[in-house]
Amino acid sequence: MLVLGIETSCDETSIAIVRDGKEVLSNYISSQIEIHKEYGGVVPEIASRHHIKNIATILEESLEQAKVKLEDIDYIAVTYAPGLIGALLVGVSFAKGLSYGKKIPLIPVHHIRGHIYANFIENDVELPCISLVVSGGHTNIIYIDKEHNFINLGGTLDDAVGESYDKVARVLGIGYPGGPVIDKMYYKGNPNFLHIPEPKVGGYDFSFSGIKTSVINYVNKMKMKNETFIPEDLAASFQKEVVDILCKKVLKACEEKNVKQVIIAGGVAANSLLRNELKRRGEEKNIKVSYPSMKYCTDNGAMIAAAAYYKVERGYVPNENLNLNGVASLSIENE
Ligand code: KG4
Ligand code: ZN
Repeated sequence: MLVLGIETSCDETSIAIVRDGKEVLSNYISSQIEIHKEYGGVVPEIASRHHIKNIATILEESLEQAKVKLEDIDYIAVTYAPGLIGALLVGVSFAKGLSYGKKIPLIPVHHIRGHIYANFIENDVELPCISLVVSGGHTNIIYIDKEHNFINLGGTLDDAVGESYDKVARVLGIGYPGGPVIDKMYYKGNPNFLHIPEPKVGGYDFSFSGIKTSVINYVNKMKMKNETFIPEDLAASFQKEVVDILCKKVLKACEEKNVKQVIIAGGVAANSLLRNELKRRGEEKNIKVSYPSMKYCTDNGAMIAAAAYYKVERGYVPNENLNLNGVASLSIENE
């Protein structure tokens, strides 16, 4: 089954061609990070405009890299939710046009399901499993049963993890996106420098707003007193606390649900401390922890094509889907 996956939900325009959910023939990604950096975050209108400008060329590049023709494609998969509505609509409209023009059935894909299925490209995932979803817009612990049903066990009550990384980065003056930079700074700072109280949130829910505010308050206090501080110490203290909370809750969910595998999904799955620490703590409890390689962690078309493959495997019958629309916000369970 040859699937063409289209992703335009945020600031990456990506088109990939994937065979049977595993063999990635091409995964062309055009990132707009350099453009949005100037504004300290993604500007939705600018993102949409760049998707429109680039998407046709990216399709050509992706087909060329994969050495296939549009006629060889069995299904077109596209992210339709959740995300920036204008950005989503570019991908959805483009996909509908292609599907209609070339008579190729269209499969709508939930963006977060895409992040989760990125794990299935290179790893053998045994179900049931627990997926930790950590991105710029989401933080969830999801139980996936043997039939690929997704049950949300909990999520953030305020900021998403990636969002809090980006906000802390802004206060530390290290630019956008903050995650990768804070991750590097962690190793140069003292993670025990700032005491950040653990948020009192029960079950599998999270709260990152208080953790973020602890750092912001410290910075403001020092600035008011005209005193200097070492940004690396704050980055390290922040990251230590965030990763500790994520690890504790995920492993608790595994024990309670009697699950032996965890898969990490989303942009923050690229975080080195989260990958290493969860793996280490998991091994102590005989729980296998896996994550996608870096190129499949941030937004990409291959994960969308992979998710579509499993959707068809589970019995979804694709059609022209000419009524398909973009949806800005949609729970993973309602897909
Ligand atoms: O999944 P993604 O590419 O876009 C969304 O769907 O949100 O995630 C982007 C987020 C950003 O907030 C970015 O700061 C964060 O992922 N991120 C990281 C790392 N790399 C990217 N956060 C922590 N550590 C990283 N190494
Ligand atoms: Zn994403």
